[in-house]
Amino acid sequence: MGQVREGMIPSITKVEIDEMVSELAREIERDYEGKELVIICPLKGSIPFVADLSRKIKLPQLVDFVYVTSPKGESCRIIKDISVDILDKHVLIVEEIIDAGRTLSFLKSRILASHPASVKIVALLDKPALRELPIHPDYVGRSIEDRFVIGYGMDSEEVGRNYSDIYNFAQ
Ligand code: IMP
Ligand code: MG
Repeated sequence: MGQVREGMIPSITKVEIDEMVSELAREIERDYEGKELVIICPLKGSIPFVADLSRKIKLPQLVDFVYVTSPKGESCRIIKDISVDILDKHVLIVEEIIDAGRTLSFLKSRILASHPASVKIVALLDKPALRELPIHPDYVGRSIEDRFVIGYGMDSEEVGRNYSDIYNFAQ
């Protein structure tokens, strides 16, 4: 753990993350039995979560990537769009964390424009306190208070994405 910076407090351990991801996979498998999924991974923060969740979901599936930026005070912009055909497909957007809901609101509209059979949202972490737009994840690992977290894909200025556990900062 030599890379983890001073002042960071362990918040969710890798063991707890693994349990949360397994439980989400179980729920999704149950709900989509007999169906094929298209899993959408919004870059970059969702990479570890999608890698773990997709391998635990024992259903036919495709994984695709999209890169949307949502700078504070500016509109969202697509840097890299999806590249698979999602017409009449069951789409699962797998996001590591939801805050204001701006990114997902934008992304969900983009996905709906391609007429999938269904769209659902999976979030490992949800911070409902600061929601600005009406985004309600269909599957949530854990709701947390409004504190900035890093690790397991989540970053502070690109630092921390590779940490196996999730941390927050001392206040
Ligand atoms: P939203 O558009 O405000 O819902 O923000 C969602 C995106 O902001 C996430 O996909 C993350 O990339 C980033 N984000 C929100 N909260 C945190 C956090 O606590 N740590 C790291 N990234 C975060
Ligand atoms: Mg993200």
